[in-house]
Amino acid sequence: EVADIASGLRVLVTAGPTHEAIDPIRYIANRSSGKQGYAIAAAFAQSGAQVTLVSGPTSLPAPEDVARIHVTTAEEMLYACRQVGSVDIAVCVAAVADWRLETSSAHKLKKGDDERLQLSLVKNPDILAMISQPGPSRPSLVIGFAAETDDIQQNAAQKRTQKNCDWIVANGVDAQNAPFGQDDNTVTIIDETSTETWPGLPKKEIAARLVQRAVKTVRSRTSHS
Ligand code: C5P
Repeated sequence: EVADIASGLRVLVTAGPTHEAIDPIRYIANRSSGKQGYAIAAAFAQSGAQVTLVSGPTSLPAPEDVARIHVTTAEEMLYACRQVGSVDIAVCVAAVADWRLETSSAHKLKKGDDERLQLSLVKNPDILAMISQPGPSRPSLVIGFAAETDDIQQNAAQKRTQKNCDWIVANGVDAQNAPFGQDDNTVTIIDETSTETWPGLPKKEIAARLVQRAVKTVRSRTSHS
């Protein structure tokens, strides 16, 4: 029996990859199974929060008591997040494609005789940075994720300030620790004042711990009774 520590809290989670169409058959995407984001959404719901999960394409079933919105592209993900309205906690776990085609083709591109194909890409909106913008409707806690191959903590800390989120959950991506599609991961939580590493945990356990820590933080920030 889990205590309803998160009851009364509204939570937004983004998860999975986004797909940016090249043509009706092909797309650009990031590697992401959606497992960590889904586990976080599930853990918040189990703790009594009201959870909306904005999910890119995955084959995972919706966690119990979670309102899931399916999206395909980064632009759709941003739009869906805006539609959700104000939340207390936002957790951006989605591996959003940084780029999309300037114009995607309505017809399948033919191979033809050319040895080269030039695709023109434009930058996608940064959903985490958007959600983190200061203002009256900013969530009291915004958590971002960072998959890094080098200088993990330094890059992640930099990402935290650049995007103006409260915490960054960093995970290393290399031969020893390639989390994609796996059930276990090693993460480092970076906030304004501290850095804490949680080595080799199941994604579900990471989710449970993150929920504990997030709820505690939000409750202490908003307590005025
Ligand atoms: O910049 P980078 O993609 O490494 O940042 C990762 C973090 O930013 C993740 O939390 C991811 O969900 C979020 N992100 C986003 N929208 C983007 C790119 C990244 O929300 N367009």
